[in-house]
Amino acid sequence: MQSLTSQRFETFWSKVTLPNSDHKLAIIGSEKPQSFICVNSKHLCCFISNAKDSLRDAKRLGFMISTNLDSNYDTIILELTKSKETNLGLVSLAEEHLKVGGKMIINGDNQIGVKSFLKTVSIQWPAEMMVAKKKGRIAIFSKTKQLFGYWKIYQDFRINKDGYFTRCDMFSPKEIDKGSQKLTSVFSNKLFGEVADLGSGWGYLSKEALRLNKKIKRITLFESNYSAYLASKKNIDDERATFRWASLENVSNLKRRFNHVICNPPFHSGRSKDLSLLKSFIFHSSRLINAQGCVWMVFVSGVYLENELREYFKNVKILYKDKHYFVCQLLKPKGYKHV
Ligand SMILES: C[S@@+](CC[C@H](N)C(=O)[O-])C[C@H]1O[C@@H](n2cnc3c(N)ncnc32)[C@H](O)[C@@H]1O
Repeated sequence: MQSLTSQRFETFWSKVTLPNSDHKLAIIGSEKPQSFICVNSKHLCCFISNAKDSLRDAKRLGFMISTNLDSNYDTIILELTKSKETNLGLVSLAEEHLKVGGKMIINGDNQIGVKSFLKTVSIQWPAEMMVAKKKGRIAIFSKTKQLFGYWKIYQDFRINKDGYFTRCDMFSPKEIDKGSQKLTSVFSNKLFGEVADLGSGWGYLSKEALRLNKKIKRITLFESNYSAYLASKKNIDDERATFRWASLENVSNLKRRFNHVICNPPFHSGRSKDLSLLKSFIFHSSRLINAQGCVWMVFVSGVYLENELREYFKNVKILYKDKHYFVCQLLKPKGYKHV
């Protein structure tokens, strides 16, 4: 079923008259290319995203794809994300890449504060048209000159309070996640050989794993968010680390097996809870270890149950538990053979 954001866009799009038939279009901020089915000239439209899976879907639908805006456009459609700083950075980026007279369309849900965001933008850049519909707002602006250059800082990687390079468009950018911290407290001197970090974010778990475990031969970081992948490369300077911009789909084709998997699994896709994503992280972790290998995972209490882990692992050891998190070591049954 179409989301309200997408329905709002579709109605608005049918009313907008664009300058000419070969206008260049770009879509930014969205992780859902399916929301733009009504855009007909997909071959002239570039879908920009950090998310590996969204880019794959966009390509299948016929869009051009990229991780960044790299030329000038007639129209840029910005779908607001849940992070205000990311949205400010995207407005500045879009404005820079719009031709003079070009149009920017901003679409967002009330839930993520579209009303106040449009107000902030409109103070300097009044909208030509704004529609409130389907629990959100959509507005169109026409570029005259560059107004929001100072918001470009939100496109930069900056050092957070814990000393790591991050950016606002990734998981826990301001500080180390408490759950990840709990996980690192149990694996000191326990990891060796080949290690995989699944959903490695900006690299905290891997950096700590390398610092605390001299016997690691190689650690492979798998991360689907392109900017988190770039940040992890900035944060880890160790020749034992290799970095893969990859999604679980790519991991499922992997033949290599690991002595250990470390993971703080995601349980959201964009703004909504996604337990099937969490489940597939558990499933893929169980596949990635060799017969003697083990998985080290942290869970937010109440989101997933210890018992459910027994679907994929015979041996579930809880190493740490408090009212917010539990950390476990997961092993395969004795005598397990890979199929
Ligand atoms: C809870 S965060 C943990 C990040 C990092 N390991 C840490 O401890 O700070 C989960 C990470 O998984 C990534 N992720 C989500 N879906 C993914 C997928 N399908 N394939 C690979 N990584 C994914 C997210 O971008 C996010 O960085």
